[in-house]
Amino acid sequence: MLNEELLVVKDLRVSYPAVNGRAAVVENVSFSLNKAEIIGIVGESGCGKSVTSRAIMGMVKKPGQIDRGSILFDGKELTQLSKKEYTALRGKEISMIFQEPMTALNPVYTIGEQMAECICKHLKYNKKEALEYATEMLEKVGISMPKDRLKQYPYELSGGIRQRVMIAICLSCHPKLLIADEPTTALDVTIQAQILRLMQELCKSGDMSTIVVTHDMGVVSELCSRVIVMYAGNVVETGASDKIFKKPLHPYTKALLKSIPKIGEKGEKLYAIPGTVIAPGERSAGCRFCNRCECCRERCKTEMPPTITMDGGRTVKCWLYENARGE
Ligand SMILES: Nc1ncnc2c1ncn2[C@@H]1O[C@H](COP(=O)(O)OP(=O)(O)OP(=O)(O)O)[C@@H](O)[C@H]1O
Ligand SMILES: [Mg+2]
Repeated sequence: MLNEELLVVKDLRVSYPAVNGRAAVVENVSFSLNKAEIIGIVGESGCGKSVTSRAIMGMVKKPGQIDRGSILFDGKELTQLSKKEYTALRGKEISMIFQEPMTALNPVYTIGEQMAECICKHLKYNKKEALEYATEMLEKVGISMPKDRLKQYPYELSGGIRQRVMIAICLSCHPKLLIADEPTTALDVTIQAQILRLMQELCKSGDMSTIVVTHDMGVVSELCSRVIVMYAGNVVETGASDKIFKKPLHPYTKALLKSIPKIGEKGEKLYAIPGTVIAPGERSAGCRFCNRCECCRERCKTEMPPTITMDGGRTVKCWLYENARGE
C-alpha cells in the first residue's frame, strides 16, 4: 500500500484577472501524495498554498480559474468533474480544514445539526447514531462537554473551539484525502499536539492521506515525510523533510529556514529575507525569487529555471543545479 499514489498534481495553473488580462497566482505546480502519507506545503504568505488547496477541492474563488494542469485523485481526473460529481466527492472523499473557520460553518444551524447532516449524508447513519458519533469526534479533538456544544451555534464558540469543530467534521466522514490549511495556528500547544496526533494516527492506519499547509516548521518536521516549498506561485523545492531541513538546496528554502527561530538560540536577531515578493501581475519571464536571491545571475532574470530532479527524488527549481542532476 505504501508509495501508492493517491494524488498527482501536474503543471497546475490558476489565474485571476489583472490589469493586462489574467495573472497566474499558481503556475507549474506539480507534486504527488502517496497513500497513508502526510506532506507539508510551506512558503511565505501569498505564495499560493491556499489557492493550490482550493484547486484540489474544486473551490477556487471566483473570478479565479484553473487554466491548465491535471489533478489526478484515486484514478479520477478532478479537473474534468462536473459540479455535481465534485459535490459528491467533497466531504466524503476529500475534506478540507479551511484557514478561516468562521466562514466554513453555517451560522444559522447548531453544531449538532451541522455535524449530523454531514455524518448522515456520508456515512448513512440515522440522526441519533450521528449525534452519538459527533459527540465522540468532539471528544477526540479535545472539546470538553461535547453534548452541550452540539446544542450551540457557531457564534457562541471561541475561534479555537470552532476550528476544532471543523476538524471534527472533516475527520468524521473518513476522507481519503484531508487538506489541512493552517489547521492548528489558532490553537494552544497541547490541543495542537492532540489534533496532530489524531491526524497522524488516521494516516498511519492507512485510511487517510494528508496535505498540511503551514508556516510552522516544527509541525512539518514532526508530521510530514515530505515537504513542498512554494514561492510566488511556483514549487521551488520538494523532498524528504529531514533532507530538506538538513541541507536545503533552493536559495529561498535556505533563507526560509534561516528565518525560523531555533530552540536554544536566544537573543540572536532573526534573519528576515530582504526585499519583497514580486506581485502576480508584475512577474518577468525569469525566476520569481531572483530579485531577493543572493545567488542571482543574469540568466535567472530572464529565463525561468527548470525543475531539476536530484538524488533521492528531490526536486529543485533553480539554475544553480543545472549541472548537478543526481548530485
Ligand atoms: N479572490 C482572489 N482574488 C484575487 N487574487 C487572489 C484571490 N485569492 C488569492 N489571490 C492571490 O493569489 C495569491 C496566492 O494566494 P493564497 O491565498 O493561495 O496564498 P497563501 O500561500 O495561502 O498565503 P497565506 O500564508 O497568507 O495564507 C496571492 O497573490 C493572492 O493575492
Ligand atoms: Mg493561505
